[in-house]
Amino acid sequence: MQKYRIITYGCQMNLHESEKIAGILEYLGYAQTENTEEADIVVFNTCCIRDNAEKHALGNIGALKKWKMRHPSAIIAVVGCMTQQDGAGNGLREKFPFVDIVLGTNNLYRLEDAIRQARENRVKQVLIDPDPNPPIREHERVARSKRPNAWLNIMYGCNNFCTYCIVPHVRGRERSRKTADILQEFRTLLDQGYPEITLLGQNVNSYGHDLDDGSNFAHLLEQIARIPGKFRVRFMSSHPKDLNRDVIDIIASSPNLCNSIHLPIQSGSNRILEKMNRRYTREAYLDIIDAIRAKIPDCGITTDLMVGFPYEEERDFEDTLDIVRRVGFSAAFTFIYSVRRGTPAAQMPQVDPQVAKDRIMRLIAEQNRMTKAASKTYEGKTLEVLCEDIVPKRPGMVCGRSDTGRLVTFEGIPEWIGTFVPVTIQRSQSASLFGIRKEN
Ligand code: SAH
Ligand code: SF4
Ligand code: F3S
Repeated sequence: MQKYRIITYGCQMNLHESEKIAGILEYLGYAQTENTEEADIVVFNTCCIRDNAEKHALGNIGALKKWKMRHPSAIIAVVGCMTQQDGAGNGLREKFPFVDIVLGTNNLYRLEDAIRQARENRVKQVLIDPDPNPPIREHERVARSKRPNAWLNIMYGCNNFCTYCIVPHVRGRERSRKTADILQEFRTLLDQGYPEITLLGQNVNSYGHDLDDGSNFAHLLEQIARIPGKFRVRFMSSHPKDLNRDVIDIIASSPNLCNSIHLPIQSGSNRILEKMNRRYTREAYLDIIDAIRAKIPDCGITTDLMVGFPYEEERDFEDTLDIVRRVGFSAAFTFIYSVRRGTPAAQMPQVDPQVAKDRIMRLIAEQNRMTKAASKTYEGKTLEVLCEDIVPKRPGMVCGRSDTGRLVTFEGIPEWIGTFVPVTIQRSQSASLFGIRKEN
């Protein structure tokens, strides 16, 4: 049997897309391998959100040149966000002539035929569809890679054009799937035994705005929450500019919707937020946090933060530190701003890289203090944990997440994976919690 290997970079959206690529490859008769040496096709599913993501992928594609010489009949495909940047498709072909297929983000449906062409006729192709509004294709084949959690796309693309971000340029405009299609996939996943489903979109709060049938995110959540059964729903990402009170209310009143929200703020400085085109102020953000905490007191709130954005001065950065202290995020993803060609921020005056490095260290130290303090508050409490995996290299230990999104490690057996276990927290260490199953 022929084998495939997929190497994935980037966000959850890409991880899920790799499951769709796997679905196509398995339909074509390939079996999965993690070992490039025994693969007959290698697919790079790329990301271009920051320079290091791109460099990483480029380096690994380049490293396959010799492999391809040893395996001349094998196929190499490069897909994902990197290919869809202006002129990147042909650029990749010139830089890596040994690559067989370069495929854009909007035309995964062409992969099957491109592989047949490469396999049977040795045809090399660059297939990039520049249309930012391609139709949504339903009934895709998905070979899910992970249990017990499943991903479910509710929408594609982004309309926000934050001035630093490449995503709207490579993922096209916002396109929402019809509520009925989402609910159908959701029910199928429950029937297949997935107890946790994460709804995916670049900005889930604007779900439905492009459909002229009155659908919106709160309404979608409401319909999902009404489905009978024991399951958990997460979603990401939320844009603070349109996280509305209806969404907070429905989470507060529905036990199946996790008390956990990822709400990227990026910066605590109004001046910088404006230059980023984020379309909210720090005050508006803090109001949303208050509204969330009033209705869902234990809600785990996580965020994304960026330092070194053009024009950022020490006082702007201090505003970011101040937000970190005020909100008490349970965790934060922190990034140094990275120039993306073709975005407005690339034309703005850049911050000294050394200053940015210094700021990120200070930011991480501050967030670590907050994370540690937040973790301590869990000690002695009993949480319902969805057991997700065994802990590698620690026999007898399993791990999972609380409703609020906390990673919990405890003594257990592999048979518990996929079940909900009450765990009493005994100690915490930075973001991790350690506990023991509560006996009834
Ligand atoms: N759609 C999501 C974010 C997708 S990108 C949202 O808006 O919440 C994930 C994170 O990467 C962003 O929140 C931002 O913090 C970071 N990011 C995006 N572009 C970046 C850039 N050019 N340099 C550094 N970080 C960036
Ligand atoms: Fe990028 Fe902003 Fe869209 Fe998120 S909302 S994907 S940061 S443009
Ligand atoms: Fe995700 Fe990277 Fe694309 S973060 S949407 S894979 S640019």
